[in-house]
Amino acid sequence: MAEKNYPLDLELPWVEKYRPKYLKDVVGNKETIQSLERIAQEGNMPHMILSGLPGIGKTTSILCLARELMNDDPKLMKEAVLELNASDDRGIDVVRNQIKQFAQKKVSLPSNREKIVILDEADSMTSGAQQALRRTMEIYSSTTRFAFACNQSSKIIEPIQSRCAILRFNRLKDDEILEALQKIVEKEKIECTEDGLAALIFTAEGDMRQGINNLQSTYYGFKLVNAENVYKIVDSPHPLLISKMLMLAQEGSIEDSLSILKQLWDKGYSAIDIVTVSFRVMKTMYKLSENKRLEVIRIIGFTHMRILEGVSTYLQLAGMLSKISQLGKI
Ligand SMILES: Nc1ncnc2c1ncn2[C@@H]1O[C@H](COP(=O)(O)OP(=O)(O)OP(=O)(O)O)[C@@H](O)[C@H]1O
Ligand SMILES: [Mg+2]
Repeated sequence: MAEKNYPLDLELPWVEKYRPKYLKDVVGNKETIQSLERIAQEGNMPHMILSGLPGIGKTTSILCLARELMNDDPKLMKEAVLELNASDDRGIDVVRNQIKQFAQKKVSLPSNREKIVILDEADSMTSGAQQALRRTMEIYSSTTRFAFACNQSSKIIEPIQSRCAILRFNRLKDDEILEALQKIVEKEKIECTEDGLAALIFTAEGDMRQGINNLQSTYYGFKLVNAENVYKIVDSPHPLLISKMLMLAQEGSIEDSLSILKQLWDKGYSAIDIVTVSFRVMKTMYKLSENKRLEVIRIIGFTHMRILEGVSTYLQLAGMLSKISQLGKI
């Protein structure tokens, strides 16, 4: 067998290595985290649903809360916390057997503490299994509390929603992601440029997991984390190039603008990649008058819609640039 002589870190994804252990280390969503901290101190956790986009700290926060409620005691964590996620079978049988058994189990806990069932990625539970939980949640609520994490709270059936406190998590802000990434850069002693960090934040779109994963991949791929390498890793068109393309179009230099589009197209970027980055670049293009910016965004929006409808051709994008070039001075 080949001997493994990687440094240990290589085996642990940074998203796990740097997953916060305590609520105070979870970044962003201040109010939500504060209410969780209050619950952690006072105990008596309500049933709850944590909902929001991927990679922003839902699973992390529930695990932190559970750890703090169990006084950071690994034995209690094992006995009094049942964690089930999408990789476990969570059909009706599991609800009837495993969850019920856990709810019936006697565990001695500190005062004001209950056993916790964490149902992660709950949107992937069938509604039948969710229906089967309704009574269980009620019957055992004096000893067992449920926490659901999901991307859309609407995927949780109404009767469960009405039994839960709903906590919403928002996309993380750019400076929140920046701060977390900088910490990792320091700890891992990585060579990372400022434009590299900016590129990571731009491509993360508020998703911390994405930001950290891209940082790690860029580092392993190229050692040096700069913008160029980040865009190579995430395989998305460089916003500077897109911004140049759009600016040339709005000045009326359609030929030059089209030649950039051709370059991107020949590199294999899809219409949807190009139009999505165009939108995000234009959103903050404060060099243009507001009127003009909004008109350009409108044109990009229409193109986006047509692409989603299935017309994702080079011609569609060329048409977009041509319309932008005809806006003139506004
Ligand atoms: N608010 C945050 N503060 C610090 N680190 C975070 C935060 N959110 C996410 N992370 C990092 O990203 C990783 C993934 O986060 P987490 O598992 O909490 O996402 P999630 O919201 O549950 O996403 P999903 O909906 O995909 O399950 C964590 O391990 C952690 O490293
Ligand atoms: Mg999760």
